[in-house]
Amino acid sequence: MVLCGAVALGPAAPAAAQGALNLTCSVQVEWCQAAATNFTRDTGIRVNMTQRGSGEALAAIRAEAQNPRTDVWFGGTGDPHLAAAEENLTQAYESPNSAALQPWAQAQWQQSGGRAIGIYAGAIGFGINTELLARKGITPPACWADLTEARFAGEIQVANPASSGTAYVVIATLVQLMGEDEAFGYLRRLHANVNSYARSGTGPIKAVARGETGLSISFVHDAVTERNAGFPVAWATPCEGTGYEIGSMSIIRGARNLAQARRFYDWALTAPAQRLGFEAGGQLQTPSNRDAPLPPGAPDLTKIRLIDYDFARYGRSAERRRLIERWEREVGARPR
Ligand code: G6P
Repeated sequence: MVLCGAVALGPAAPAAAQGALNLTCSVQVEWCQAAATNFTRDTGIRVNMTQRGSGEALAAIRAEAQNPRTDVWFGGTGDPHLAAAEENLTQAYESPNSAALQPWAQAQWQQSGGRAIGIYAGAIGFGINTELLARKGITPPACWADLTEARFAGEIQVANPASSGTAYVVIATLVQLMGEDEAFGYLRRLHANVNSYARSGTGPIKAVARGETGLSISFVHDAVTERNAGFPVAWATPCEGTGYEIGSMSIIRGARNLAQARRFYDWALTAPAQRLGFEAGGQLQTPSNRDAPLPPGAPDLTKIRLIDYDFARYGRSAERRRLIERWEREVGARPR
């Protein structure tokens, strides 16, 4: 978790007059900091930002429901935002800027009863350290089925679904592709090849970049970010098809700074704010604002074989909890 204090005042207006915003942020910290700094510059509103993984953010928001310390939850995978909406932890809001969004981002808003909205999308795939695998003479994977083969023993990293929304998307994707019992059989076989379960969704791709592991299951846009930073990283999407996220934003029920929260929400849906992910943070998701271009080099989701991810089902609070508990019991707790 990264805590970041009040961001410097912008030149436009005295921030004290504009109040403050408490932001929980579940994208990478560079983007979180850029969002906070630029919002303060544009509005004079001070931002207290806390960065947390999607699963950790949901747990904190749930724990603080009677006395919320967060006003807006920005980013992170869509399923826990839907769970928060269902648990009445967030509140409905209709932004005048939502008409500019892609249909999938508006669908998230409809699905959640107006409590969550899509800000970006990204697909799950494989992150590959090409130098490390070449040195070991290991052929990179093309399909989910390849990952359980003996050649990847001890070479794979993925995140833990209790803390990471990315890891939950992986499990939900496999359940949708294979059926639940088959998927858990697969996850148990995969477990034998996994060297560690990281806390955050980007932990495994950073380990790939550093050469600590040959392979990760990650959002493919995060693999491009590491490659652009100069690491020998490639990505691939599984031949059987793959799942994706609708990275989301929600306003917390009982938000102390509601006017500032709505101001941030409106701002975050604009094209200039959505370009910040790439411009300031090197992030390569597909933005939800139709006027925000796909960043150069970003994976083009229209060219990836995506499943028809059932957000209504896998965003349900009880379903999410049940699948994570089953994973902990049948997979995470097993010796390797
Ligand atoms: C990274 C990705 C985002 C994703 C987030 C989820 O920041 O770039 O697209 O939404 O991870 O993080 P988590 O730690 O919850 O898996």
